Amino acid sequence: MCQRARGLCVKLCAGRWRQRSESERTTMDEAAKKEALRLFTYGLYAVTTGDDAEWSAFTANWLGQVSFDPPLVAVSVENTSHSLPIVRRTRRFAVNVYSAGQRELAGLLGKSYAKHPQKLDELRVERTAAGCPVLVDALAWVECAVEGELPAGDSTLVLGRVVEARVLRRDEEPLTMRAAGFRHAG
Ligand SMILES: Cc1cc2nc3c(=O)[nH]c(=O)nc-3n(C[C@H](O)[C@H](O)[C@H](O)COP(=O)(O)O)c2cc1C
Repeated sequence: MCQRARGLCVKLCAGRWRQRSESERTTMDEAAKKEALRLFTYGLYAVTTGDDAEWSAFTANWLGQVSFDPPLVAVSVENTSHSLPIVRRTRRFAVNVYSAGQRELAGLLGKSYAKHPQKLDELRVERTAAGCPVLVDALAWVECAVEGELPAGDSTLVLGRVVEARVLRRDEEPLTMRAAGFRHAG
């Protein structure tokens, strides 16, 4: 179907056509979009990645399990992050489940490495057999092997197959976005 028939163009006085601007194309209520997206419920996780040469960790809420068989997890990673090139190079990452008491740590790892390189200094990590860093103090972690990626606007959606997992503690609930009072949506 041509652009005009789909209503993507407006006719000018001179009889020519021009493309509608982004704001002309949508009738969406921007405030409602923001409010509705912020009502999505999320957990909070530390995504860790790296090897002996270089590693990284950041807080993420845009992630979830997307298949039982095989077990697949998808995580959306900001294109400008320090972590994305490391995920791409090592083709490994781990999703560490924060406990309800780790709000402060989630806030710290939610800062960008570029502005806060010291955010990794005090972090207690160990390595999986494959060399991926994981948090010693998380409730649990799953290690993923990268299966593929998809451009997702300002981020990249990385799909990982769960290849290893540990439950480290059963004494606390997992941290949620709502309980933490953080925002990363809208
Ligand atoms: C509550 C919260 C949730 C976040 N969720 C994500 C996320 O899902 N994906 C992401 O790439 N960054 C997310 N961020 C931002 C990252 O934690 C981090 O600041 C950014 O990706 C840069 O990471 P870097 O240290 O690898 O540069 C979130 C930050 C906060 C505070």
